[in-house]
Amino acid sequence: MRLGVLTGGGDCPGLNAVIRAVVRKGVRQAGYEFVGLRHGWRGLLVGETQELNLRSTKGILHLGGTMLGTSRTNPFKEQLSPEDVLDCFEKVGIDGLIAIGGEDTLGVASKLAAIGGKVIGIPKTIDNDLSGTEFTFGFQTAVQIATDAIDRLHSTAESHDRVMIVEVMGRHAGWIAIYSGMAGGADAILIPERPFDIEDVCDAIRRRHESGRNFSIIVVSEGAQPKDGTLQIHSGEVDDFGHVRLGGIGNLIMEEIEERTGFEARVTILGHVQRGGTPTAYDRVLASRFGVAAVNAVETEAWGTMVALRCGEIVSVPLEEATGTLKTVDDDLYDVATTFFG
Ligand code: F6P
Repeated sequence: MRLGVLTGGGDCPGLNAVIRAVVRKGVRQAGYEFVGLRHGWRGLLVGETQELNLRSTKGILHLGGTMLGTSRTNPFKEQLSPEDVLDCFEKVGIDGLIAIGGEDTLGVASKLAAIGGKVIGIPKTIDNDLSGTEFTFGFQTAVQIATDAIDRLHSTAESHDRVMIVEVMGRHAGWIAIYSGMAGGADAILIPERPFDIEDVCDAIRRRHESGRNFSIIVVSEGAQPKDGTLQIHSGEVDDFGHVRLGGIGNLIMEEIEERTGFEARVTILGHVQRGGTPTAYDRVLASRFGVAAVNAVETEAWGTMVALRCGEIVSVPLEEATGTLKTVDDDLYDVATTFFG
């Protein structure tokens, strides 16, 4: 069996760990051969491949990024049909494919599986917004990076009597914001799932400062939305999957808070720092478990499924289920977080 492996979408810590696990398990225990497809779906479409064997995957467990490269190439944007994409399997000489990605990459995989494509998915994204799995690898590392930043911002906020706005990633879901905000003791957390009124945020800061605290920390997801008619936000360019490039809501919030409350404010946009560098131990282990499970799924011919974490166990779920709807922050968790606001 010759299997293709690709990493698509935004990179995240743990991608190399998962590639290593797939190859290690597949070569040693099943005798499979692997071929790396460069830069996500693009590699399959144009036939850009890379050697993937025990030797080429040595020493990469702790490394950030992806040795295969990645891109946001959407084959269906190029006017190709799922059948056209499946034809590329033969062109690059693979019998099946392990696709490592988030909602977009695995959405393509799901369409291929629907017409009989031999595809297994592995969930990755720092955003943790993929359904079917409790956690994606990469998320925990991003949360740790954001929490470390919030911890550091605390002392400088206190020294200068400032309101610090920390903008974190999270396009449609506020998982990084809610976890890092809770871990970092944020006074307010603004997430896409809960449109905010800037005047309520300002009131909470005023109350806090009247009660004797001289600084505040606000964590905001890049995709947080003001309630209709309260604030105007600008939209940017769109990628192959139709997503607007985000980043910048923190600046707007900072300006509004300064103007409305008179308190000095500063913004820190963590951006791609959250996606870079070495994965945490948790993400290395999760990625390794997912990689091994993906090869097991190939062996049992569980094509059209994605490996997933549920109740601490690695299971397989249909790709369709995983990519049908996004997993957003649930009300219970948000309610717990509000206990610590202000
Ligand atoms: O992969 C998800 C993500 O990290 C989002 O949180 C963010 O909006 C986006 O990627 C940024 O993408 P890019 O790397 O294309 O700027």
